[in-house]
Amino acid sequence: MSDAQSLARRAEALRQEINSHNYRYYVLDAPTLPDADYDRLFRALQQLEEAHPDLICVDSPTQRVGAPPSNAFSAAKHRVPMLSLNNAFSNEDVEAFDHRVREALGLEEVEYFCELKFDGLAISLTYEHGMLARGATRGDGSKGEDVTANIRTIKSIPLRLVDPAPPALLEVRGEVIMVKKDFQALNQRQREAGEKEFVNPRNAAAGALRQLDPRMTEKRPLRFFAYGIGASEGPALGESHAAILQRLADFTLPVNSYGSVRLGLAGVLNFYREIAAARHELPYEIDGVVYKVNRLEQQNRLGFVSRAPRFAIAHKFPAEEALTEVVDINVQVGRTGALTPVARLKPVFVGGVTVTNATLHNEDEVRRKDIRIGDTVTVRRAGDVIPEVVNVLHERRPDNAREFVMPNRCPVCGSHVSRAEGEAASRCSGGLFCSAQRKQAILHFASRRALDIEGLGDKLVEQLVDGNHVRSLADIYALSADQLEVLERMGKKSAANLVSGIEHSKQTTLARFIYGLGVRNVGEATARDLAHHFGGLRALLDADLQALQEVSDVGPVVAESILEFFHEPHNVEVIEALRQHGVVWSESAPGFIAAPTLPLAGKTFVLTGTLPNLTRDDAQLQIETLGGKVAGSVSKKTDYVVVGEEAGSKLAKAQELGISILDEIGLLALLDKKSEREPS
Ligand code: IVH
Repeated sequence: MSDAQSLARRAEALRQEINSHNYRYYVLDAPTLPDADYDRLFRALQQLEEAHPDLICVDSPTQRVGAPPSNAFSAAKHRVPMLSLNNAFSNEDVEAFDHRVREALGLEEVEYFCELKFDGLAISLTYEHGMLARGATRGDGSKGEDVTANIRTIKSIPLRLVDPAPPALLEVRGEVIMVKKDFQALNQRQREAGEKEFVNPRNAAAGALRQLDPRMTEKRPLRFFAYGIGASEGPALGESHAAILQRLADFTLPVNSYGSVRLGLAGVLNFYREIAAARHELPYEIDGVVYKVNRLEQQNRLGFVSRAPRFAIAHKFPAEEALTEVVDINVQVGRTGALTPVARLKPVFVGGVTVTNATLHNEDEVRRKDIRIGDTVTVRRAGDVIPEVVNVLHERRPDNAREFVMPNRCPVCGSHVSRAEGEAASRCSGGLFCSAQRKQAILHFASRRALDIEGLGDKLVEQLVDGNHVRSLADIYALSADQLEVLERMGKKSAANLVSGIEHSKQTTLARFIYGLGVRNVGEATARDLAHHFGGLRALLDADLQALQEVSDVGPVVAESILEFFHEPHNVEVIEALRQHGVVWSESAPGFIAAPTLPLAGKTFVLTGTLPNLTRDDAQLQIETLGGKVAGSVSKKTDYVVVGEEAGSKLAKAQELGISILDEIGLLALLDKKSEREPS
């Protein structure tokens, strides 16, 4: 073999290897090579091609971002028009579709191929003899724009189809999308650069695809899913939609793995339900599902009506975004006195419910999004998430639109409102004098992870506070069944149940009690640390700033909040009154004296991510039983970090600090070993 031949072979081998890793990474989502090794392969090919430019070919992975910036996109005429789908918005609409299809085909039951309806942009990819020749947008359906240079930057799109005898011509149709994670990162970069953020991943994907310089597109990572074909020459790819998609996947085109064949109306509606439930876990946005008659011969018999096929339909999810008007902006007072601006909206049906309020988070957020009373806004409600205002349609702003002003007096109790430097929240200074804070404080005290008083919900607390039955936490324990029974939505039975729930809650733990007090900056983990460290309430009450900071995870800010809380005479009185009403917990000697007898005494664990079998509570219980402590964040004082799936920054921090990392198996082994050595 000549030198030239062997160099050409080496280049081809590198290309194949790089392409196959690209495929595993971007299409199968299952990389097998560390990034550094991939980079090494890529550089090797680059160097080889630099030294021997005659080896460069258009489908080399080094040539994805080759084209120079252009001034405009040229027109791209579609060989076969790109149509759209008719929509179904209800099960009845789908039933009518299935009925029409069965009637036309004279069948009892039809086989459908069910797919996700991606919320991106329709794209046509033309492959000539297996080589990517053109990428075009849909445009008006008969003519789009030639965006080939940008399409080539999408790494999941093969530049050459993997097939020994590819079709002479194959037009692949599909959707270009941006995954949620990349969208968030892009918006973060936009924010940091002081540039406008994108409203949603679809707009971001459209923006990326419309860049005149492909190097800009490359910086905004896009993905692609193939969902069908347009023009083709050569032998048919298959007799069903499923078979065609399988062929496309064999060519190494990205085909979504949720696609599935279902029988009849019941089958497709099940698919809809399954996907609707999984929707928010998907890494990309979808706005519904699509049903396509699976057999091509049946598709052909059904044909088209005006601009859409008769053989397919999109079953849309209820929209998660809608336009409405901001009627007013009020503030809501939270447990710690934080004033949250809330937009009162003209009722709008979005995400499957009627929405009348949306949180605006804080004053800065209102300014940043420039939301004014009278504005028309886009509201978003995704899943169980609290409705949010996404953006303002400035062009629709009326002349009399009013700016929001944070009040300087609490709207509930009239106390002074202030905003500490460096804080986003403005706060009411009324403390428990403020009935809004009192209501929230009571709800928090009664919550499941605090004193766990079953049946004490927000409607009831509202009445108890407004009716002056409960002025402080301690008053809960003075409530009688007679008093409760006459309240709205209460009867003899629920009153008796609540009284017994209240009675039951008196037996608690020091950690729950501390957490239940609702000290600012003291969450569940800190409350547990404090209980463990001080062993009893007296020692905690007596602790000064320095003593408090000896507790792991307690820094100056948290210590200051604790001190402030216990320096308030009213708070100490409430604690005293609670004790007098019989709220009890067992106290031990302080942790540093009591614990050394246990095998994990003095060891601090941090749990992060989801463990495969153990729940968080189980893991914690087992650690604590052996004298260990579970803290909320990783610091130099942490001994072990237990990581599960989707562990985030805590794992990174642990690695940075060189702390021992355990998975579930490692944790269980450690627990086993410790409990064997030192039986307790
Ligand atoms: S099939 C002739 N399948 O939805 C039918 N379209 O109005 C051609 N879309 O803009 C479309 N996911 O880009 C089909 N799995 C899917 C889809 C899908 C998203 C988009 C498509 C088009 C619109 C249909």
